[in-house]
Amino acid sequence: MTKNKDKAVNEFAHSKPTRIAPEILAEAVDALRCVASGDRVFVGSGLAVPQLLVEALAMRAKELEGVEVTHLMTFGTAPYSAPGLEKSFRTNALFTGANVRAAVNEGRGDYTPIFLSEIPALIRSGDFNVDTCLVQVTPPGTHGHCSLGIDCACTLEAARNAKNVIGLVNEQMPWVYGENFLHKDEFRALIRYDHPLPELPRKAPSDAEKLIGLFCAELVPNGACLQLGIGAIPDAVLASLGDKRDLGMHTEMFSDGAVELVHKGVINCKAKTLHLDKMIASFVLGSKVLYDFVRSNPLVEFRPVDHTNDPFVIARNDNMISINSAIQVDLTGQVCSDSIGHGIYSGFGGQVDFVRGASRSKGGKPIIALESTAKSGTISRITPTLSPGAGVVTSRADVHYVCTEYGVAYLHGKTIRERAHALIRIAHPQFREELKYAATQRKLI
Ligand code: COA
Repeated sequence: MTKNKDKAVNEFAHSKPTRIAPEILAEAVDALRCVASGDRVFVGSGLAVPQLLVEALAMRAKELEGVEVTHLMTFGTAPYSAPGLEKSFRTNALFTGANVRAAVNEGRGDYTPIFLSEIPALIRSGDFNVDTCLVQVTPPGTHGHCSLGIDCACTLEAARNAKNVIGLVNEQMPWVYGENFLHKDEFRALIRYDHPLPELPRKAPSDAEKLIGLFCAELVPNGACLQLGIGAIPDAVLASLGDKRDLGMHTEMFSDGAVELVHKGVINCKAKTLHLDKMIASFVLGSKVLYDFVRSNPLVEFRPVDHTNDPFVIARNDNMISINSAIQVDLTGQVCSDSIGHGIYSGFGGQVDFVRGASRSKGGKPIIALESTAKSGTISRITPTLSPGAGVVTSRADVHYVCTEYGVAYLHGKTIRERAHALIRIAHPQFREELKYAATQRKLI
């Protein structure tokens, strides 16, 4: 996930559903009466957040105490995490987005570090029971099934295991193929509210991100199967793949850049060794162009993350190339991606799932791609040690390729000394001497 994300959160933090008829809001508040103090409520994720239901839940604050609201990364507002509502609600972020980051870091909310692939099993096991699941769906089809549309990641499993499922029915949610349906009889209440889905604005990649895209593209052979996250670096990689052939996609999510490659005939899924002819994803983040692309498109199948992100499933795709980003990489190859020092920034998501899956895949390559510096070039993201409090997401035994705008370091099977040399070579030139000095002091080189 990259830069665009936060800006986007802020942008439509203000775009609450407009002019909701009071009777629809009242209906939603009424449906939410099944939530009792002490319950856990799961909220559908990404750009599929049923915002009306979230607002309706927050309106019950005075009547509720100790309700845990749990979710992956969500866009839009998270009124349950607002200061002052601590007695009523506590957020439990399985991936921390910008809208709950303050609550988590101010001690008003929680973060649960977990591999994305393992969340559905955790829910199924009963160790993480869900009382009520709030989900946005399409209207029921001919046989009574609602599609979960652009988000199936963990929402399907949460709904299957919840005591109550409340559905926000939106005609503008695209109907999609895959394992992504709930029957209308599985809902306690269905509330109709048609409205456009929020969209994630795209930003042009920086020069550094374009270079990273080019270096990553060199590691992608024809016929490869891709996993890419959201944002400028993945988009820059996609933009550099225009002359490849027969690419496939098996990923937790994709965005608009992938659609362009399908239209160019570059992604056709013809060389896939699993799910031939299908783009497999668990959610998408992007624009209406993307939503129209996935709508009733037999090329695309949405599956829950215990399928898409299972490293053993991922590994059945030959030439699996995974590209994920990071906050910091230390000179031994430890990758920090969910925190900036002690501050929680995001989550594990599918990074380790795909690093492990791609490393087991025949011809696979797990890549960590990041700009060499942060804060307008003032700090190096390649560091002698991780910052105090920073958490390791991808361990130094898991890491393979690290890519910056200065090149690619291959670390797997290499000694600490070799890693330090390789990483200093791809650090920003301005920091290389400093890094060499620190590495020498620590006897790394
Ligand atoms: N020290 C201090 N601040 C840093 C920093 C560092 N080493 N590295 C980044 N930052 C700051 C940036 O300046 C930026 O701050 P801003 O929002 O004020 O501009 C912020 O952290 C985000 O950095 P950026 O480079 O824009 O991150 P990103 O949006 O490209 O996302 C990750 C990178 C690692 C946070 C993101 O990929 C992520 O959350 N990964 C989680 C795991 C994963 O990869 N999952 C699978 C993908 S779906």
